Amino acid sequence: MKHTLMELPYAMDALAPYISEETLQYHHGKHYAGYINKLNDLIKNTEYEEMSLEQTIRQSIGAIFNNAAQAFNHGFYWQCLSPTKTEPSALLLNSLKEAFGSLEAFKEAFSKAAIGQFGSGWAWLVVDEQEKLHIQTSSNAHTPIEHNFTPLLVCDVWEHAYYIDYRNERAKYLDNFWVLANWKFASNIFEDKKLIRSSPSIPVCNDPDDPICEYLDGMAHLETSST
Ligand SMILES: [Fe+2]
Repeated sequence: MKHTLMELPYAMDALAPYISEETLQYHHGKHYAGYINKLNDLIKNTEYEEMSLEQTIRQSIGAIFNNAAQAFNHGFYWQCLSPTKTEPSALLLNSLKEAFGSLEAFKEAFSKAAIGQFGSGWAWLVVDEQEKLHIQTSSNAHTPIEHNFTPLLVCDVWEHAYYIDYRNERAKYLDNFWVLANWKFASNIFEDKKLIRSSPSIPVCNDPDDPICEYLDGMAHLETSST
């Protein structure tokens, strides 16, 4: 399958002043588009041509893995940002309190992990198969879906994500990440995931135009095919 560029779910200038239009033009229009285009070139006439992005990530190495994982990670990251303020759902908030003590303690621990990630990479809030929340970091293109974790929230800590707006001050970028963090997106995945686990026979999603449904359908397919 030919992988397509995910359009931003907001205007290029909608996240300013926290993430500028210039940053998004480079980040989405050059870096992210570059991963998608390179991936499509690399998979031509290979077994990967028929695979979903998630399947490609699970089954590839080298340049195909790097570009596929970066395509997924960025598509996920765009949806983790919101120009309007959002809050975690009651269910997610309770789980965050159980795992980290409070929402503020979670944010502090996540920021610390993101700031401490050496070099290029990502900081994630993920949920495991026992529905326990974790903070993870990954280097370069690596992604929690390689290891059966379901991501809920991510912050891109490659320099291209923040250098135009913050230069080398990753901590300031993290401070403002919390203004933009899309808790509605994270909560929807968390709650849909719980629903899938409690009633595996019900249809996973019914809206093909909803990117959350597309993501969860992909994950459910992977879980089914790996059991
Ligand atoms: Fe990036």
